[in-house]
Amino acid sequence: MSVGPGPATTPPLASRIALVTGASRGIGAAIAVALAEAGASVVVNYAANAAGAERVVRTITERGGRAVAVQADVGSAEDVERLFLEADRAFGGQLDVLVNNAGIYYATDLQEVTPEVFDHLFRINVLGVMLCCQAAASRFPGEGGSIINVSSLAATKGASGSLVYSATKGAIDALTRTLSEDLAPRNIRVNAINPGLVITEGTQAAGFATAELERLWTAKTALGRVATPEDIAPVVVFLASAASRWLTGETIHTTGGVR
Ligand SMILES: NC(=O)c1ccc[n+]([C@@H]2O[C@H](COP(=O)([O-])OP(=O)(O)OC[C@H]3O[C@@H](n4cnc5c(N)ncnc54)[C@H](OP(=O)(O)O)[C@@H]3O)[C@@H](O)[C@H]2O)c1
Repeated sequence: MSVGPGPATTPPLASRIALVTGASRGIGAAIAVALAEAGASVVVNYAANAAGAERVVRTITERGGRAVAVQADVGSAEDVERLFLEADRAFGGQLDVLVNNAGIYYATDLQEVTPEVFDHLFRINVLGVMLCCQAAASRFPGEGGSIINVSSLAATKGASGSLVYSATKGAIDALTRTLSEDLAPRNIRVNAINPGLVITEGTQAAGFATAELERLWTAKTALGRVATPEDIAPVVVFLASAASRWLTGETIHTTGGVR
């Protein structure tokens, strides 16, 4: 008996609209491409790197997907308002998935903490997430939506030498749990992913991806290597899709088993 091709399967995010902050490079870029491959139309947000964002849009459209790049600083309320208005214009006012990926990091030990450093990291990493959640929550349709926050292993395990950064990610975990309860009556799910070291343009520029640090992370990672953005992105696709419909308020350690 011959078995012919089965019925064509519908991609898990077909006809969904997703907005990914900080998607011009690194983890955000991989997430934007993966969401598009799963069928979503994607708003690719960036702060300054227009060329990177356009590259991501081109990658998506060349594979038959739909994407648009929109500049906005997530730490600015005015910019966030414009970001979502431009997303409305691009995709007809629909929004189903928000990925809060935009984030900054640099080493600050206790003696280096200043109000300026605190404000800078908290404005982008925490206020930015709240502003985007606010704008998305008012747009999600009656059937609900999915918010995925990119937190960090630093939230629970700490990140020696990066005091303020790890505090911002602890705030993201707390915000994720609280918002998941507040938005549950509207079937808006809120989850976080918490990666360990991921090799990106950002970690390389910040000096967090040196050969020595890679060796250290490899040694303490059960799966025996450090992560790439492509290791992280499929987890976000899962959290964006109906396959994760019974998950909310979770912080998922996407670390390859860091001990
Ligand atoms: N890489 C890791 O090891 C690791 C581990 C755990 C968690 N994370 C988290 O994962 C996220 C991405 O990290 P990454 O390593 O991929 O970073 P990255 O390579 O430095 O890329 C950061 C992205 O965020 C954007 N961005 C920065 N500030 C922004 C702002 N104010 N408004 C809008 N977009 C902004 C950048 O846009 P422009 O390029 O246009 O400036 C860029 O697209 C961050 O939240 C980070 O904390 C990373």
